[in-house]
Amino acid sequence: MSLADVVDLLRCPVCAAPFELPSGAGTLRCGQGHSFDVARQGYINLAPGAEPPNADTAAMVTVRERFLGAGHYRAITEAVTAAAVAVGPERVLDCGAGPGHYLARVLDAMPGSCGVALDVSVAAARRAARAHPRLGSIVADAWRPMPVAPGAVDLALSIFAPRQVDDLHRILAPHGELVTVTPLADHLRELRAELGLLAVEPNKRERLAGRLARGFAPGPQRRIVQTVSWEAATVSDVVLMGPNAFHRNAVQLAAELERLTWPQRVTLAVEVSRWARRP
Ligand SMILES: C[S@@+](CC[C@H](N)C(=O)[O-])C[C@H]1O[C@@H](n2cnc3c(N)ncnc32)[C@H](O)[C@@H]1O
Repeated sequence: MSLADVVDLLRCPVCAAPFELPSGAGTLRCGQGHSFDVARQGYINLAPGAEPPNADTAAMVTVRERFLGAGHYRAITEAVTAAAVAVGPERVLDCGAGPGHYLARVLDAMPGSCGVALDVSVAAARRAARAHPRLGSIVADAWRPMPVAPGAVDLALSIFAPRQVDDLHRILAPHGELVTVTPLADHLRELRAELGLLAVEPNKRERLAGRLARGFAPGPQRRIVQTVSWEAATVSDVVLMGPNAFHRNAVQLAAELERLTWPQRVTLAVEVSRWARRP
């Protein structure tokens, strides 16, 4: 990871002053004297308090990295990357980045760009720190003002993650864009029915458009709807990498999966949308 590449984009979470990272130093320091140590694993913790209960656990992050690395969401990754390339950013922030899979693929496609992976989960920040050489990984809470300079990035990603419209607007440059990925009602519908997974919020897409409208104008959108055929190990991963993991453990899930027939046909249905920052 390279915190040095992105230190200009970051701001002190205490006083919002710029940071310095003297070469070879393991500490970010602002002009007011607030300092934050770079963790041994290469991320930096800029969160004001303890991790909230909805932060992804180390087990969830491991499963997510395995699932995404195996290419099960390849179509989503390719659509996100294509949207990002169309924006043509030099500086990218992934808000709720998890293990940094999507941001790393965007940076691969955009030589010369650099990115910040932001997540409230320390386990996620640890993984993201090693996801790409041009990526800096920080722990921060997206529900609070992010420790990111105003107008610092050309592109923000928000992929199956929490988003705070006013702060995303603040950290984007005037020409900047936001790329979101949201599940449609049919996403994983067979698994929701068989396993009683958490439902997709009704009218999620319309609600998102309503919430974003004050800061962003809708741009091109792409729907990805496909049917895949998954074995039990993949179904287990897709359940245990997300919020359903807060409601059941691997042993309980394995018992539930035993009564299904394999492979299972599963619908993937998401929308990848670009949003232009309003002046
Ligand atoms: C469903 S995961 C998606 C991760 C990643 N975007 C992906 O699709 O692979 C949601 C992520 O948001 C993070 N998260 C939850 N609340 C957050 C907050 N308040 N601020 C920043 N990240 C948060 C979780 O820790 C988790 O990594």
